[in-house]
Amino acid sequence: MSVILAIESSCDETSVAICNNGKITANVIANQTIHQNYGGVIPELASRVHQQNIVPVIQQALIDAKVTKKELNAVAFTRGPGLLGSLLVGVSFAKSFALALNLPLVSVNHMHAHILAHFIDDPKPVFPFICLTVSGGHTQIVVVRDYFDMEIVGETLDDAAGEAFDKTAKILDLPYPGGPLIDKHAKEGNPLAFKFGEPQIKDLNYSFSGFKTSILYFIRNMQKENPDFITEHLNDICASVQHSIVSILLNKLKKAAKQYGIKEIAIAGGVSANSGLRLSLQKLAEELNWNVYIPAFEYCTDNAGMIAIAGYHKYLNKDFVGQDVAPLSRMDF
Ligand code: KG4
Ligand code: ZN
Repeated sequence: MSVILAIESSCDETSVAICNNGKITANVIANQTIHQNYGGVIPELASRVHQQNIVPVIQQALIDAKVTKKELNAVAFTRGPGLLGSLLVGVSFAKSFALALNLPLVSVNHMHAHILAHFIDDPKPVFPFICLTVSGGHTQIVVVRDYFDMEIVGETLDDAAGEAFDKTAKILDLPYPGGPLIDKHAKEGNPLAFKFGEPQIKDLNYSFSGFKTSILYFIRNMQKENPDFITEHLNDICASVQHSIVSILLNKLKKAAKQYGIKEIAIAGGVSANSGLRLSLQKLAEELNWNVYIPAFEYCTDNAGMIAIAGYHKYLNKDFVGQDVAPLSRMDF
């Protein structure tokens, strides 16, 4: 028997989940709306809001899962990567909670957890599989050989795919986070209305900073001729930008699948909630005979359910950490 409480606080979502013998029985997510007017997450504000949210979110998760603190067997938490001030709230809370209840502590890498979200619901991918992990902070192509045997074979050299969405949204005067709004407007627009070039980057790596700049110049040029260009063409701009980002992402994924001879393909991270990416991946899968795995929306963007399932597999391996553990902003642990 194992009942694991997991805490996620790496960026701007305070989330707590419960994993009961490998099943997620609660996944409470408190979003922070305070950042909307700033065009991005303000770290100082994020950590303060985590402080306010953490206790009520823990209580709600215990209620949802119908378990008491006494029934818990371990406490899992996101150690990193992420914003240090935000991570500190979750890590410190997890340590105190585990100390008070005399429970073992399980440290989880946020990016591994995005991938392991595929082991929450059926169907589950078969090892080895390739996962395209696309979030606000990372864009990685990962060969996953086992739960914790993962090799990053391609990644972005600058901006992440989520940043490409969010920064384009900012250019278009849409509030943060812009990814979901671009997705919404794209549904009403023509993806071939405007063409943006694909960055020529070697190997399986990505680059999105030049792409973002090309959109900025394109919009400025169009506005010289028509100051209302954005409002008049918002849906077509969003659809075209989304179409370009999705094709950049999938072209490298296709290359990776061919290079490694793997047909089990997954996507993970916040951008995997994008409807254009989900649809194009499914079409590609039919064409190339891939088995594709796309997480439920609830497990795409940041959530503690994914930390809980990763924590569960570490718990089975008795992979615990001591009270001296500290958060890490980097990826390589
Ligand atoms: O994984 P996540 O919640 O947080 C990080 O670990 O970064 O990803 C957040 C990112 C943001 O950039 C957000 O705009 C993007 O995921 N995102 C989307 C969609 N939903 C979230 N991007 C495009 N389309 C969406 N539907
Ligand atoms: Zn994330």
